Amino acid sequence: MSTFQPEPPATAPTARRVTAPAIRARKGPDGAVDTPIVMLTAYTARMAELLDPHCDVLLVGDSLGMVIYGLPSTVPVTLDMMCAHGAAVVRGAGHALVAIDMPFGSYEASREAAFASAARVLKETGAAAVKLEGGETIAPTVAFLVARGIPVIGHVGLTPQAVNTLGGYGARGRSEAEAAKIAADARAVADAGCFALVLEGVLEPIAAGVTAAVACPTIGIGASPACDGQVLVVDDMLGMFERTPKFVKRYEDLAARIGNAVETYAAEVRGRVFPGEEQLYRSKT
Ligand code: KIV
Repeated sequence: MSTFQPEPPATAPTARRVTAPAIRARKGPDGAVDTPIVMLTAYTARMAELLDPHCDVLLVGDSLGMVIYGLPSTVPVTLDMMCAHGAAVVRGAGHALVAIDMPFGSYEASREAAFASAARVLKETGAAAVKLEGGETIAPTVAFLVARGIPVIGHVGLTPQAVNTLGGYGARGRSEAEAAKIAADARAVADAGCFALVLEGVLEPIAAGVTAAVACPTIGIGASPACDGQVLVVDDMLGMFERTPKFVKRYEDLAARIGNAVETYAAEVRGRVFPGEEQLYRSKT
């Protein structure tokens, strides 16, 4: 396959795509999830195609601001960026539920503004859900969206869009007051109707307490195995960056492998080894 002749995703024509109600139903009335939910971020069609057969949910995270665009935080990410990458991921994935992060500034001002932004995201991308950060303050917005046909994933604990008020990206819930606030935030958005809840950067007892308290599945990132599922930024787990956050396990070392491959390519071009005989077009006669 070349860049110019993309094949349809292998899973597209026949497989049924995972739905928001199906993810919600993974947590039974007894509060148990049989098999943990697998979620990874994806930002491009080809990566979505590679991740799709293995994941329940692909999240077009606003982490793309840092991962793809080299921005210093998620704060500058725009709806245009989320829609462009969201549509690419939906084109690449035929099985996993695709959820799209609502970027900072697109949903906080009012429930109506949130609906307009979320509706645009779903219309322009074909994704089936949005994710938004926040707890008690944002819960009425979650209820408003859900009541109007927009499946929502909540996100509490460390909420990166609030970096300017939090003062950094450290784990949350180290004081009793902060732990109680995270638990209250989680209950508020879960009760408002989100079908899953991302818990980011919280201590294990908080994750365990929230997971036991809410009806929807919790999906942890830096939040211990006590959650009902896990999510990572795909570039982190593939080793695309030198720095690996403590909660990330590197399953590959792609940065080094890419460096080696490109070093070899550069040496072969300079040494007139590439292109070789095998890469030459020949006349058909
Ligand atoms: O933006 C993102 O990638 C996220 C995940 C890390 C949960 O919100």
